[in-house]
Amino acid sequence: MTDDDLFSRLPPPISEEAARVDFLRREIAHHDRLYYEQAKPEISDREYDALYRELVELERAHPEWASSDSPTQKVGGRPQGAFEQVRHLVPMQSLDNTYSDEEIAEFVGRLHRLLPDEEIPLTIEPKVDGVAIALLYEKGRLVRAATRGDGTTGDEVTRNIRTIKEIPALLSGAVPEVLEVRGEVYLPKEAFARINAERDEQGLPVFANPRNTAAGSLKQLDPNSVAQRGLSAVFYGFGAYESERKPATQQEFFQSLKRWGLPTNAQIWTAKTAAEVIAAIRELGATRHDFPFETDGAVIKVDDIAQHARLGSTSKAPRWAIAYKYEPEQARTRLLDIMIQVGRSGVLTPVAELEPVFVAGSTVARATLHNEEEIVRKDLRIGDWVLVEKAGDVIPAVVKSLTDERNGSERSFAMPSHCPVCGAAVTRTEGEVAVRCGNPACAAQVRRRIEYFSSRNAMDIAGLGEAVVTQLAEAGLLHDVSDLYALTAGQLLPLDRMGEKSVENLLSAIASSKEQPLWRLLAALGIPHVGVTAARTLSASFGTLDRLSAACLEELQAVEEIGSIMANAIYAWFRRSEVMALLEKLRTAGLNFGERDPQGSVPAAGGKLSGTIWVLTGTLSIPREEAAEMIRVQGGKVSSSVSAKTTCLLAGEEAGSKLARAQKLGVKILSEAEFRNLLEGTFSE
Ligand code: IVH
Repeated sequence: MTDDDLFSRLPPPISEEAARVDFLRREIAHHDRLYYEQAKPEISDREYDALYRELVELERAHPEWASSDSPTQKVGGRPQGAFEQVRHLVPMQSLDNTYSDEEIAEFVGRLHRLLPDEEIPLTIEPKVDGVAIALLYEKGRLVRAATRGDGTTGDEVTRNIRTIKEIPALLSGAVPEVLEVRGEVYLPKEAFARINAERDEQGLPVFANPRNTAAGSLKQLDPNSVAQRGLSAVFYGFGAYESERKPATQQEFFQSLKRWGLPTNAQIWTAKTAAEVIAAIRELGATRHDFPFETDGAVIKVDDIAQHARLGSTSKAPRWAIAYKYEPEQARTRLLDIMIQVGRSGVLTPVAELEPVFVAGSTVARATLHNEEEIVRKDLRIGDWVLVEKAGDVIPAVVKSLTDERNGSERSFAMPSHCPVCGAAVTRTEGEVAVRCGNPACAAQVRRRIEYFSSRNAMDIAGLGEAVVTQLAEAGLLHDVSDLYALTAGQLLPLDRMGEKSVENLLSAIASSKEQPLWRLLAALGIPHVGVTAARTLSASFGTLDRLSAACLEELQAVEEIGSIMANAIYAWFRRSEVMALLEKLRTAGLNFGERDPQGSVPAAGGKLSGTIWVLTGTLSIPREEAAEMIRVQGGKVSSSVSAKTTCLLAGEEAGSKLARAQKLGVKILSEAEFRNLLEGTFSE
């Protein structure tokens, strides 16, 4: 066989460009899967866009290579399998991105070329970095919610969406026959910070950013766990809109959203020229860190909706809108030292002390480094130049060290073998990254426990923040939370910054906290794994602290929403001798252990529901805990299982075994509408 024969039987050589196209298509598909299906992107939006643009350009230069499989022909990754798949009535497109003033000017120029001699008013609004969602309302009633998925078909997540309290089940006022509103579900920055602080405290890995956390939350199969995350939403567009009169402009549509009771962006800007658009983008950029959600850019839209149809769209994005992406905000600074913070459960957290630097709207001087593994992974050394950003726009984070800047004077860091506050040996639990100070009497732990006890979501004692707790502890007045109730004016008055008025206020705030409902006390005690939601559930189920502390494991596990890890933790906690001693001190101090609760064993006299026992089941339009609170406020009691003693079963959608049991026992069953009618008498079908 000659060489010529051999070559004639091989496929023609692939050009470098063709190979690159093939590579880019696979690479982008891979990142789409990470982003859309696993909510775990590995590259930044900017890096992704660079790959994407390169592919678009190569495909434009070589139309002969066009393929319907190319990611440029799709909007995103395919939806996941666990949820029902639904087709959007109108496909959900994405937006093209721009990064510079020139590109904005090009966009505005293009609009005027496409619609010559026309005025083209524009709007500019925040680009919310959340999870795209489409809500379908029929005659004003929420019937379905779906994620974007691949743009044509998405996950049906109605039950999860119903847990978001900002999303009304029923719209107010005059509404279109059929309305598909579009927007973003997001995790408020504050909630993100709170969740991560809790995870840090429990030695769990923290979430990277609110967007991923929101995406992960929406994919949970249990709506109750979704409700605990505290998601929110904001709306900015529509798909299907069946009505005699449609909105004429984007601005008019925003007014309608507000009238219907749907949350929208607090502010939108208007502009006519590229220069005005750019000015609006700058203004938005300066205030975006104050928004409750993360904003990674601005969206520029043609205001006149009739012009949308005439401008049309490409297979992926409309021509009447474009996104502008802000530079990710990072700053260089010096890692001056790594300090150790001791949390209320003894977890030792390394904290970076930084040369103060301004980033994403405020000055950063400290950043948690979470645990030793993180420091090793990022190869951080004391004295390093580092890159700093704000995770989720709120939590200062060290991104990486700039190793090229090292001069040899940098020092490695090792976790201490003893607690820096009390000197006790630190312990490491198998399988956990966290190390702990094993001494519950450690001054740092005590201080943190007291701060936590008095915090807003717990006993809510006004005036008893970090500084005052530290001051009182240092003065030797506080050894555990029960000492709060023994404080006297005589002890406080000699201390710095303790005037007569502030002492009086503090003592009266402490005294009135004795009357706080049981759930607050349960949330305040720092029982492992028990946050506010679980505390409310426990309080509703057991009524008094004594009943809860005496409960056996089976009784704890029988409570809906209390998993076996939590049940075990609660059971073990109540069997610790120092816990029992503390609880006795609190009882002697006169705290309400549930006996004085309206929702405890003594129902509030006079409430509409006093003396009644309720069980909640199925999916309601509001979080179940909220409905339970409405019952308690009216003096009713909420129980987790149906028995002959149950007065009423409130049955939401898709109620199951509890409904069957209630029917069997002849317990009265109320729909959500009937329930609201009973409470308010205002619910209209
Ligand atoms: S309008 C035809 N407005 O960003 C698409 N989108 O990167 C019209 N987004 O798919 C979308 N904030 O999920 C619009 N104020 C806003 C937005 C926004 C965030 C999302 C949306 C879109 C994606 C594009």
